[in-house]
Amino acid sequence: MPVSRRQFITGLAVTGAAAGIGIPFALGAAGSTSTGLALASRVPLPEPFSLPLRIPPVLEPMRSDGEGDHYEITQRVATAEILPGLTTAIWGYNGIFPGPTIETRRGRETTVTHINELPVPTVVHLHGGRTPPEHDGYPVDFVLPVGREVPLPVYAIESGDLSQDQRVHRYPLDQPATTLWYHDHRLDFTGPGVWKGLAGFHIVRDDEEDALGLPSGPRELLLMILDRSFDVDGSLLYPAIDPTGLVDAGVTKGFEAGVLGDVTLVNGVPWPVANVDGARYRLRFLNASNARRYDLRLDPPPPDGMVQIGTDGGLLAQPLRHNNIEIAPAQRFDVIVDFSAYQPGTEVTLRNDFGRGRMGQIMRFVVGARVEDDSRIPEKLTTIEPLDTMGVITRTMKFFSGHLTSNNSDRHTWLINGEPFSPDVAAARPALDSVEIWRLVSDFHHPIHIHLNPFQVLSRGGRPPGPYDMGWKDTIDLRPFEQAEIAVRFDGFKGRYIFHCHNLEHEDMAMMSNFVVT
Ligand code: C2O
Ligand code: CU
Ligand code: CU
Repeated sequence: MPVSRRQFITGLAVTGAAAGIGIPFALGAAGSTSTGLALASRVPLPEPFSLPLRIPPVLEPMRSDGEGDHYEITQRVATAEILPGLTTAIWGYNGIFPGPTIETRRGRETTVTHINELPVPTVVHLHGGRTPPEHDGYPVDFVLPVGREVPLPVYAIESGDLSQDQRVHRYPLDQPATTLWYHDHRLDFTGPGVWKGLAGFHIVRDDEEDALGLPSGPRELLLMILDRSFDVDGSLLYPAIDPTGLVDAGVTKGFEAGVLGDVTLVNGVPWPVANVDGARYRLRFLNASNARRYDLRLDPPPPDGMVQIGTDGGLLAQPLRHNNIEIAPAQRFDVIVDFSAYQPGTEVTLRNDFGRGRMGQIMRFVVGARVEDDSRIPEKLTTIEPLDTMGVITRTMKFFSGHLTSNNSDRHTWLINGEPFSPDVAAARPALDSVEIWRLVSDFHHPIHIHLNPFQVLSRGGRPPGPYDMGWKDTIDLRPFEQAEIAVRFDGFKGRYIFHCHNLEHEDMAMMSNFVVT
């Protein structure tokens, strides 16, 4: 029998799992807005809306040919001036945070060679990508650090799936236009890896979307929203048990439910300000936070609201107006805002109604003169056929907290159907091209993400899907003590993939499992 990785690493065994019973630390309970604990910065923080918004640069391919585009990214330690006058060490794709944006036309094969000059192994996952299993970034498919010996989990060594110090990821990207993102996905250490800066956008474009006439070029803004905390010297604070990030996974007591920062960054800038024309803009929101949820609202509100046109898996069937948008970790909302509806000079603040004080603010737009604008929002955006769920298999997946105990310790953990992650355990073996209903059940806030295939939300607690559940999702925002049904069609590739909670501290503390498409 293969050695279970968890037993090897921790020497602990799971002895109990119970929903919300006797949890010995501060958690966001039912009614709260995020599950996690805030980490206070130890440095004076900048005035909101004093620093200009930056847009991550678009990466140029090393070469392009008839078949596709080839990119190269080096992951390395670098410094960034995030707080004015201080330097912050980050882990960056090509040394920047966020990483460079990759843009791909639908169906153009994209290969990305990753080279790792960081002090730890990493794993690269393209979130939302319809990717063959060997390129998806399975949590032990490491990019090993150049010229360094590092300890590795026994499972990786046994499975022999170790590359040298670079790894080529091949992405077919034969999928509808949408906002994807790539990020670190290392077994047990995704939280600290992403927190230090390993996240970037990957945009897929196609003819269908181009034909709509949506705002584009400088009027399309990618906005990666996340929270961080800073130490006196400007370095990033993170409550890792093992600051080397090499041996012991997890966070110190109190943070097991999730790490919340007290500085909001958009594209790596604290509470930035952006000048916009009096015209329509396409804002592509990504919540790349480890654990924080946001309730986005523009103040003053635009008369037409925020018009959602897309989500994780691409365009909605038709535009959907919102006053507020709740966005959980890893989710994307693609919205149009008509700034021409404001008087020139108006300051429009993007707020977070789930936050208080500074955390109630995200960024500001300063509206300029009205300009010519031939963009449109068509009444029909795309066609979404509801998946046919007549007579299909239904599986129940329970996302609950639990404990790992041994003689002298008792550690909090997060489990799926009572099990911690192990590469050897598959919670489901769906047949290729089959549709299944998964009933997801939660105890706390759990943003549940499934690799490979997007899904449709069928119901929440026996009621119809919520206002943020429309379209093709790859991450659903499960709230405390909630149950939701989703429909998934498992197609594209056979093989082993993962699904997990995208609260990265929950993920690192084992709330992850496998499904094998057969
Ligand atoms: Cu965004 Cu499995 O990850
Ligand atoms: Cu993913
Ligand atoms: Cu969770």
